[in-house]
Amino acid sequence: MSSILLHDIGRLVTPLSQHKDDSARPLLTIERAAVWLENGAFKQVGTSADLLHSVPSNIERISAGGKMMLPGFVDCHAHPLFIGNRAHEFFLRNRGASYQEIAAAGGGIHATAERIARACEHHIVREALPRFERSLEFGVTTIEVKSGYGLTWEGELKLLHSMRELKPLLPQRMSRTFLVHVVPSSWQDRRKLFVESVIEEMIPEVAGRRMADCIDVFCEEGAFTVDESRRILRAAQDERLDVTIHANQFGHSGGALLAAELGARSADHLEYLNDDEIAALLQAEVPAVALPACVFFMGTIPYPPLRKMIDAGLRVALATDMNLGTAMTESIPFCMTAAAIYGKMSANELLWAVTLDPARILNLDAVTGSIEAGKSADFSLWNLPELETLPYFFGHAVAEEVWVAGEHVFESQAVVHRY
Ligand code: NIG
Ligand code: FE
Repeated sequence: MSSILLHDIGRLVTPLSQHKDDSARPLLTIERAAVWLENGAFKQVGTSADLLHSVPSNIERISAGGKMMLPGFVDCHAHPLFIGNRAHEFFLRNRGASYQEIAAAGGGIHATAERIARACEHHIVREALPRFERSLEFGVTTIEVKSGYGLTWEGELKLLHSMRELKPLLPQRMSRTFLVHVVPSSWQDRRKLFVESVIEEMIPEVAGRRMADCIDVFCEEGAFTVDESRRILRAAQDERLDVTIHANQFGHSGGALLAAELGARSADHLEYLNDDEIAALLQAEVPAVALPACVFFMGTIPYPPLRKMIDAGLRVALATDMNLGTAMTESIPFCMTAAAIYGKMSANELLWAVTLDPARILNLDAVTGSIEAGKSADFSLWNLPELETLPYFFGHAVAEEVWVAGEHVFESQAVVHRY
């Protein structure tokens, strides 16, 4: 039975699961805090003075050196399984080429799918590992991993197997999503048949072999129509899988309204979102996932109307969308900075949006997303005085330490004075 008292935490900041009314995103802040960890979970949370006094003296004591403690971040939308990079597309886009034009010329998702088709699982795993390591440095202790660059069943299966191979290698908790991304090039003239094979073969296989927890569809012009997306996601729901949608990224695609109609676990992207769509999501209690790093990196699409969405009462989580095409970053703190600037989100809203709200979306809020007795001890320590300074010091926000399930899994390299 492992037991540790981590004391001398300068400031502990966390949302709480049991707040009666959390619409104002209240946070618990404890100055000079301590946490008692036992068997990977928080056993007690309080002030250093109280816990140093009450916890038995034979328990190992570790000082946090006055650092700030936050709950481990939950990145609920990420595509870390790919090969190579598409930096040249980034430059083409910056000089005026559109995402759709690049895709039509053989770039984009299809170019990545070709590389996946040629790669073996070990190669995919080897390329993905450093992305998870960087994500950990940014304080992420739970990450959603989407397939989606395989496109064909053969390619997708490779990615699903890579997830299985990665799981024991990662310190983070992983949530797996099967993404139906675009029609593969080899099926372009058999589009209807491809959708049938997703419904009749792929989804039952994914569900039957428990290879993912959720099915996602890219519902957009050039990807899947609303009708196709509806059929695919209904088939997933028939198999008792959660569903989510890449919705309204390049226009009012109907994806947001479909998410509301189906009661999806979330509607993601939502760069184009009008009042009716906000009302529909609200009515259906479908939370939004905003991906501000993607908007920043694309440079041509608007930020979702975050302030309006939150003021209307929508739950909004933030995620990286980490992928080589539209958001090449693992940084949740950067997403917080962008959402603070462009979404006018408060520090309280930002912390909820990267911890407990995304944990709820992934159905993991009983386990993680806040620092509370009984939950997994997933947290990060920061050499920062208060929460506001995390999105404020943008560009170099890296955690000092990260712990997952009571294990110390990351420590930043201390700067050694060499002058
Ligand atoms: O979430 N929008 C669809 N999928 C990814 C981008 C995929 C790619 O361009 O490689 C996204 O932005
Ligand atoms: Fe995405």
